[in-house]
Amino acid sequence: MAATFPLITTHHLGKNFGDKLAVNDVSFEVKGGEIFGFLGPNGAGKTTTIKMIVGLLRPSSGSIQVGGYDVQIQAQLAKAITGYVPDTPNLYPKLTGRELLRFIGDLYGIEKGPVERRIEELLRLFDLTEAGNDTIDSYSHGMKQKTALAAALVHDPRVLVLDEPTVGLDPKSARLIKDILRQMAERGAAVFLSTHIMEIAERMCDRIGIIHQGQLIAVGTFNELRSAGSGDSSLEDIFLNLTGGAEDAEIAEVLK
Ligand SMILES: Nc1ncnc2c1ncn2[C@@H]1O[C@H](COP(=O)(O)OP(=O)(O)O)[C@@H](O)[C@H]1O
Ligand SMILES: [Mg+2]
Repeated sequence: MAATFPLITTHHLGKNFGDKLAVNDVSFEVKGGEIFGFLGPNGAGKTTTIKMIVGLLRPSSGSIQVGGYDVQIQAQLAKAITGYVPDTPNLYPKLTGRELLRFIGDLYGIEKGPVERRIEELLRLFDLTEAGNDTIDSYSHGMKQKTALAAALVHDPRVLVLDEPTVGLDPKSARLIKDILRQMAERGAAVFLSTHIMEIAERMCDRIGIIHQGQLIAVGTFNELRSAGSGDSSLEDIFLNLTGGAEDAEIAEVLK
């Protein structure tokens, strides 16, 4: 059964780069069992927030707990239960997929027997059993994305964070990733993903937070966001309403 306590909590999280306030007073919770979508246009502050959650960027203000651990103070404990798929994964091109997953298993100190079973299970799940013996530089974009997600799952994280996971994916791989994220959530994990595509947020996520110019301007289920709007039926309308139509050029382009 899905857990209902928060596995990711941010308190008044902020990050500035010089004068630029990239993330401004962002507070939210993601519970176990839930897929949370962080939706916003390019430059809204999604990647900056994600890098703070996974411990790669130090917040300028506020704090983050992952699985109850403070990401700044108990960094190792937080990282041990977190899986992260960056927007442009860096995947050691000269390793085979299998070698990469073994390497990750070693990093997390997982025993050889269990890690081998886990790796074969993941390769099968992602339809990479054969390709697992080829070097990663021979993989297609979709195969690389799947390998990056498999690598993030080797240590069976309770918190999974993905930065724009479906960009450039063929429909079959996108569907597979969606199904796997749902399975993770059903097993009690908290899944946090960012996207600039409303349709993805609407289809994949249980709750959605809309980030605009560094600020979280709305959080809720799709239906909650819809009823908060003025009878709007689509998330696109809600988004445009909330952001006053600003910065929608790119969103509009994506939706064409
Ligand atoms: N290392 C950095 N130095 C300066 N400005 C940055 C840096 N990283 C991001 N920014 C700025 O912070 C804002 C948010 O960026 P980002 O979090 O990457 O947005 P998103 O992922 O939503 O597209 C943007 O204006 C971006 O230019
Ligand atoms: Mg980004």
